[in-house]
Amino acid sequence: MTDAAFIIVAIDGGAASGKSSSSRTLSDRFHLLHVDTGSFYRAITAELLRIGVPAADLAGVQTAVKHLALGTRVAGRSAQMEIGGRVVPDAEIRTKQVNDNVSHFAAIPEVRNALLAYQRGQADVARTRGFRGVVMEGRDIGSVIFPNADFRFFLHADPEERARRRASEGGQDSIRERDRLDSSRKTAPLACPDGAVSIDSTHLTLAEVVELIAAPIAARLGPL
Ligand code: CDP
Ligand code: CDP
Repeated sequence: MTDAAFIIVAIDGGAASGKSSSSRTLSDRFHLLHVDTGSFYRAITAELLRIGVPAADLAGVQTAVKHLALGTRVAGRSAQMEIGGRVVPDAEIRTKQVNDNVSHFAAIPEVRNALLAYQRGQADVARTRGFRGVVMEGRDIGSVIFPNADFRFFLHADPEERARRRASEGGQDSIRERDRLDSSRKTAPLACPDGAVSIDSTHLTLAEVVELIAAPIAARLGPL
């Protein structure tokens, strides 16, 4: 089997630390399935709000997540979550309402549990589709989802720099508040896992960050 060459790359970090941009570049360079787990939490948040279940309604959330029919569509090199056969479009998951609510849903253990097997299953999706591996980004990938990933990175940058980055993309986002909630929750808090490579990107360009991550992967995979 060629499966020995299949790799899992975990990239965690706070909001606007550069996870998505670097993961997309790595996915293209090494033909890895790109899995943005933040988009999964966002899709579930948008769906629960759409059906009228707020995060404060714990019993309602616990019941509703049991009945979500989750699927995956691969678009290009990215995994997209389907709920009830429909991909929740970007326009619906990057709203201010979702920004303001997602960390409250993500702190609920039943929500995280509902996503655990689904996220691990993305490796099977990648294998079935002929990818050389997975690059998965989020908050708890290297700590909870794939603690034995081949490569684990933790990105950070000063909050002012991250706020500047997010603002320059437009839209309204309370990244400090999300970081506070994500870091202080009991289940799978945002933290650099033991043994992960920590990269401070405050004064690095995206290309420089990508090179730091890509170098050990290229050494493992060899020339493409
Ligand atoms: O793009 P950005 O870093 O701002 O956020 P995101 O990756 O889209 O994640 C949105 C939210 O989902 C985070 O603020 C967390 O509350 C939650 N999340 C999580 O709890 N665990 C993950 N593995 C990924 C996201
Ligand atoms: O996925 P995450 O929220 O961690 O961050 P991102 O969406 O990849 O990056 C947020 C913004 O910061 C994007 O516009 C990136 O191009 C930019 N960025 C940057 O200017 N310098 C870096 N070293 C990393 C990201």
